[in-house]
Amino acid sequence: MSFVVAIDGPAAAGKGTISRAVAERFGLAHLDTGLLYRAVGAKVLAGGDPVDVARALDPVDLENDDLRTPAVAQAASEVAVIPQVRRALVDFQRAFACRAGGAVLDGRDIGTVICPDADAKLFITASPECRAARRHKELMDRGMDHTFENVLADVRARDARDSDRATAPLIPASDAVQIDTSDLTIDAAVAQAVAVVAAARQQKG
Ligand code: DC
Repeated sequence: MSFVVAIDGPAAAGKGTISRAVAERFGLAHLDTGLLYRAVGAKVLAGGDPVDVARALDPVDLENDDLRTPAVAQAASEVAVIPQVRRALVDFQRAFACRAGGAVLDGRDIGTVICPDADAKLFITASPECRAARRHKELMDRGMDHTFENVLADVRARDARDSDRATAPLIPASDAVQIDTSDLTIDAAVAQAVAVVAAARQQKG
């Protein structure tokens, strides 16, 4: 059965963790679409042209271990503003969503643009301070030395760019269920998401 779950939200709100858990719980494939923009951003930092790079993107490019740095995240957010870059990445995402067996896609515009007919839509949020604290801890755990203030400034800059861009801005789909994870444990947030998806699955029959 084809079954598509769209999970959107700002950086570090917990959508990656929730998406992986939902995919595992329901046996669905998972695509972190941020990796597409990060892969383009990384190649642009290395001197490539954003549109050329997006058009030539190879799935192997998503396996680059260096895509999780703050510099690549900022570059990703910058290339994501370019309409031709976004257009070049649509087919890959839709093909993934259509795979037999179903899929979970997480990103910024999955429920609004990529998969507007998704069977279940979630919008995961948390306060900027809370998201910056999580991202800061993650970076420290990986031995990357950044101040909390810098991480918070990065989160705010990325939020502004992702939300204010003209093409496919970060906004909840009108039929998305919103989950604010600021005061939730991971288990509690995952349980809420799983309940929403389970209800949608039951409805589909
Ligand atoms: O989810 P992430 O932090 O890995 O995403 C990196 C950047 O990519 C994000 O700041 C905006 C962009 N992005 C996007 O515009 N649309 C998506 N579906 C996913 C990510």
